Amino acid sequence: MAGKIPSPFIDELLNRVDIVNLIDSRVSLKKAGKDYQACCPFHDEKTPSFTVSREKQFYHCFGCGAHGTAIGFLMDYDNLGFVETVEELAAREGMEVPREEGGRSGPDYRPLYDTLAEAARYYQQQLRHHLQAPKAVDYLRQRGLSGQIAADFGIGFAPPGWTNLLDRPEWGQDGVEKLRLSGMLAEPEEGKRYDRFRDRIMFPIRNPRGQVIGFGGRLLGDGVPKYMNSPETPLFHKGQELYGLHEALSFDRKTERLLVVEGYMDVVALAQFGIRNAVATLGTATTKHHLVRIFRVVPEVVFCFDGDRAGRDAAWKALEITLPEMRDGREARFLFLPEGEDPDTLIRKLGPEAFKRLIDEAPPLSTLLFDKLIERVDMASLAGRARLSELATPLLALLPPGVFRRMMFKKLEELVGVELPQSAINTAAGARSRRTTRAGMFLGTMPPVRRAIALLVSNPGFANAAPIPGGWKNLSLPGITVLRELLEILRSEPNLTTGAILERWRERKEGKYLNQLAAKMLPLQEEGQLREFQDTLKSLERQALMMEWDALVAKAAAVGGLDPEEKQRLLQLSEEKAKRDNPGSSVDKI
Ligand code: UTP
Ligand code: MN
Repeated sequence: MAGKIPSPFIDELLNRVDIVNLIDSRVSLKKAGKDYQACCPFHDEKTPSFTVSREKQFYHCFGCGAHGTAIGFLMDYDNLGFVETVEELAAREGMEVPREEGGRSGPDYRPLYDTLAEAARYYQQQLRHHLQAPKAVDYLRQRGLSGQIAADFGIGFAPPGWTNLLDRPEWGQDGVEKLRLSGMLAEPEEGKRYDRFRDRIMFPIRNPRGQVIGFGGRLLGDGVPKYMNSPETPLFHKGQELYGLHEALSFDRKTERLLVVEGYMDVVALAQFGIRNAVATLGTATTKHHLVRIFRVVPEVVFCFDGDRAGRDAAWKALEITLPEMRDGREARFLFLPEGEDPDTLIRKLGPEAFKRLIDEAPPLSTLLFDKLIERVDMASLAGRARLSELATPLLALLPPGVFRRMMFKKLEELVGVELPQSAINTAAGARSRRTTRAGMFLGTMPPVRRAIALLVSNPGFANAAPIPGGWKNLSLPGITVLRELLEILRSEPNLTTGAILERWRERKEGKYLNQLAAKMLPLQEEGQLREFQDTLKSLERQALMMEWDALVAKAAAVGGLDPEEKQRLLQLSEEKAKRDNPGSSVDKI
């Protein structure tokens, strides 16, 4: 997937996605005139100042200033990168993202994906056919796994031996390099290398798209290390991946909840008992990355932790990471298992029904948060309750704006028994919301080039109303090249929306400035804007004429004077000037 994404594809994507539908799927919008409104998801507010324009394919919050296209919205709302966002939107629309050849292309990782897919195939095949396969199959059976579940998760067997994988004939040229880059070889010293995974049960780790990006390998008995994982590679980042996510989503694309457990075996064992929505972090604590991934696909997460001290500490860390992600409509719950049990052992003891009940009844984040803090203070004393407020406020401050945040602060006030100062409750963004844009003043104070750009970027259709030739294009004023380029693009593609224009400028330094102009234009009354645009271009034309006239007059007075051609031009300009200075003249103005 190398290469730049071509702009016609982005235009088409923005048309198909439609910013109103996209945002409405996350933040419920209400129609207001020809636009749509909601309370801003990016800052705390009670009256809506977040406005979405279908016509412009652009949104703007007049409270906090947040603005952008559909792509920009998803990037901010879901914390995604540009390419990731485009891929996600395209996938929703069933479109394949094309890449331009050459240009600013990134590295091409396809050979690494292919290598890992081939390795996974090889390990699965060895589980069936290797001489020592029976002991691996016995191990899986003894752990209670059926052949079906092993197949669903693509479980395989890396046979004993140092170079089974390395010596495969299918790698072709630079096979060693591909195996090395995809993390499949161990290189204890320069020039010495062999298979990283030997005599282990192999769990392929897939990305959400189902491509194998790494492996976990378990010994068939006791020993260390019990599990071995792929090292960091360009495709595999241990702290970000969730084992079983692809499998959970392919089992039920509409699942509303994911269960986060610790181990590969927990995921697979739960699946064996019909709980197909478990995912595991790969031996690391839960990270923000994990949560962003999870909440991108489901509104609810249930964390499973050991009931011991370490488990409780891990749960508190997970809670702290979850707080900033708790937008309205999301839920996080915490299930503590009896000591000495993991989901794999517990579900075998309790059976799936009882286990499901535990999940359903797991306490929510709000309960865990207040219960834990209350444990640490003396609620019977005033000082203790003040301490509770001191402990809770910085945590609640991590919550994003919304109803949930307000409810949590309310709950804290009830517990403490006094109202908290408003300053403790407001976010920085909330405080900014009082700074509103005075739209009416906006255009009048602008230099003409900027005014023309502002009008054009928010009304792309005006391009065809602009006078075609024009000396103004040669003026050396700030922004003139942007204006020229905008007009050129819009003349050849008159149907671009504001959003599509802004996407073309995404990676250029003027992009930010165009975005700001578009944002400030959104609330203005549209009547009179075409006229304003035409007048602005006329005044630029006039400015160009004056500058040329001044230059020629200055040259005429200097040594050497004007050549005949320049004299002719000066004459012509003087006539133009006279016509303009005398609006009563019957000659048409430009
Ligand atoms: P556990 O030791 O709890 O694994 O480690 P488990 O899944 O219950 O293993 P079984 O039941 O004995 O097979 C939990 C996770 O921590 C990582 C693995 O991702 C494992 O699934 N881990 C554990 C390692 O990376 N290396 C190890 O040596 C041990
Ligand atoms: Mn286990």
